[in-house]
Amino acid sequence: MDPIITSLSLLLAIAIATIIIILKQFHARLPLPPGTMGLPYIGETLQLYSQNPNIFFSSKVKRYGSIFKTQLLGCNCIMMASPDAAKAVLLSKPHLFKPTFPPSKERMIGRGAIFFHQGPYHATLRKLVLRAFSPDSIKLLLPHIESIALSSLHSWEPRPLLTTFHEMKTYAFNVALLSIFGKDEVFSYGDELKRCYYTLERGYNSLPINVPGTLFHAAMGARKKLAGILAEIISLRRGGESEDSSLLASFMTDAEGLSDEQIADNVIGVIFAARDTTASVLTWIIKFLAQNPTVLHAVTEEQEAIMRSREGKGLSWEDTRKMRVTTRVIQETMRVASILSFTFREAIQDVEFQGYRIPKGWKVLPLFRNIHHSPENFTDPEKFDPSRFEVAPKPNTFFPFGSGIHSCPGNELAKLEILVLVHHLTTKYKWCMMGPQDGIQYGPFALPQNGLPIKISLKE
Ligand code: HEM
Repeated sequence: MDPIITSLSLLLAIAIATIIIILKQFHARLPLPPGTMGLPYIGETLQLYSQNPNIFFSSKVKRYGSIFKTQLLGCNCIMMASPDAAKAVLLSKPHLFKPTFPPSKERMIGRGAIFFHQGPYHATLRKLVLRAFSPDSIKLLLPHIESIALSSLHSWEPRPLLTTFHEMKTYAFNVALLSIFGKDEVFSYGDELKRCYYTLERGYNSLPINVPGTLFHAAMGARKKLAGILAEIISLRRGGESEDSSLLASFMTDAEGLSDEQIADNVIGVIFAARDTTASVLTWIIKFLAQNPTVLHAVTEEQEAIMRSREGKGLSWEDTRKMRVTTRVIQETMRVASILSFTFREAIQDVEFQGYRIPKGWKVLPLFRNIHHSPENFTDPEKFDPSRFEVAPKPNTFFPFGSGIHSCPGNELAKLEILVLVHHLTTKYKWCMMGPQDGIQYGPFALPQNGLPIKISLKE
């Protein structure tokens, strides 16, 4: 090779290496965000969970500003309570921050599930999930969702006392099975799937000790059984000619070549994502409507007008698009309740952010609840006022379904099943809350105390 070219290449390589070293040193010199790391290993976990987590977060924001560091259960964390920061992590720089979950959760749901991935495999799954939950697909589910809502409400009538969250979990579970399998399997496999899934979820928040007698062990056994039932359904489907628009049909399109195991992981993952979230929001709606008679009156008027116009026929997709007041109630409920207080990501390399250094491997938590409850984003934020959504919120201040490449693909289905249930509830029933009404429990979603016990009866 020409000696001049060799020397030039050498000089260029040295220059690049020098720039990289200088940049690394510059990054290393940037400070970490302010904050305290607490005790060795447990960090500030006790402070966070021994009180209402909002008090922990708000006092930190007051003291350190909207970006601060802490340590939870051995993980170094950076919390972000500003709209810009949440946008950067979730929407504009998702390649720098990957989703992260404890390994025991991955084992329980299954490592192939959509939440745990980035890149081409995630994009393939997301395309398939979005197809199954698009408005065109879920429109076809509407009559079946309506019959699930009616039979749930009917089953509540004779009961003297209901735990709202418990009943809403059953409703959301049945709608999730419908959207995943179509209506046939819901009837043939529903009870068995329910039994296994309920055992699985009991182990979800338990210590991950896999020895006989522990909840975790029972959960792993139920996980295996669930995978067996799903394999059976998949093999039956492969033999037949199903052309429905269910999630399973979408996963089984040959072109994408998902294995049975990957399909099972994602079916379990979607049930996990769909059930407690939707049930928590419905539980809060029941509470806020009971506590705000003017809002309940406006919702009931809207729903009664729709009921009169449908003249005894089932709800149509167009009817659900006319439910504007009820839709604002859903939005305001999701803002005030913020059932997912935050989400987790992990920095995949050292990142410079607003003058701070986020070291590789640190967890990054956009704090949805703080953003939804900041007076800078929502006037009088503690007040339940659905009319505020007559005007769209400021950009990046409202994240009920997350944002960016991992945002919730089931959001249209969730809203539809809530609208359908609220339609039949407000037009036919009245209810009142029993017991204390102000407590909140976190497990892990924010919920009214004791799952909101209520008494329900038919309107005269
Ligand atoms: C009101 C009810 C619901 C709420 C509040 C909710 C909220 C969310 C949020 C905030 C995320 C993003 C989490 C993150 O970025 O870390 C998410 C993701 C997800 N949700 Fe929902 N969700 C609801 C209902 C549903 C339903 C009904 C389904 C399916 C039928 C569903 C399926 C999913 C899936 C599969 C993901 C992961 C997406 C991905 O990683 O690409 N969700 N949800």
